[in-house]
Amino acid sequence: MPDYSQVIDFGNGQPSLSLLPVKALRTATDDFMARGDATLLQYGADQGDASFREVLAQFLGRRYASPVDASHLMVTASASQALDLICTRLTRPGDTIFVEEPTYFLARHVFRDHGLHVVGIPIDDDGIRIDALRDALARHRPTLLYTIPSFPNPTGTTMSPARREQLLAVSREHDLLIVADEVDLLLDFGTAPLPPQGAHTHAARVSTR
Ligand SMILES: Cc1ncc(COP(=O)(O)O)c(C=O)c1O
Repeated sequence: MPDYSQVIDFGNGQPSLSLLPVKALRTATDDFMARGDATLLQYGADQGDASFREVLAQFLGRRYASPVDASHLMVTASASQALDLICTRLTRPGDTIFVEEPTYFLARHVFRDHGLHVVGIPIDDDGIRIDALRDALARHRPTLLYTIPSFPNPTGTTMSPARREQLLAVSREHDLLIVADEVDLLLDFGTAPLPPQGAHTHAARVSTR
């Protein structure tokens, strides 16, 4: 029988058990329970616990090297749930949306479940091809563009800064909502991450998960 404890499984994007902060979580849970405030075990605020969002905003602000406003954050059970919520709130069955081609296969399942018509926009070494995007915009009126700008699954081709600027310009021109899936944004190997697309909400319609 092979010793699977030594196998590094790249099939799922999840950390090694040895990296999980079990002790810190236990201490936090004990502190939390010691407060004896049972309201903390109820539904709570729709957007997520306010003090948690404050701490998260500070953490993200440090890592992104640009400030993050806690009121812009909403806590979800996963990136997939956030995408599902976005579709529920912003799309209707039969709507057209754009994705990079290829894109994350499970996002396609979410879009399919919402009855969306998915149009793929090809990429090159700099990310989504702007000429192809403009061609597609001449033929369709998409509700949104779903993009994975940094370390995308499955290609790993991070969108270049210049391409990001061009994408924002197209978004402004066509009032195109950009939904940026940035689940792996902070998983770099020592290089400073590019700013999240959410840093551009003032410049275009950008929603980041
Ligand atoms: C681009 C992308 N988005 C979302 C997910 C899934 O995130 P979650 O498990 O938080 O739903 C993955 C997982 O591989 C992913 O690669």
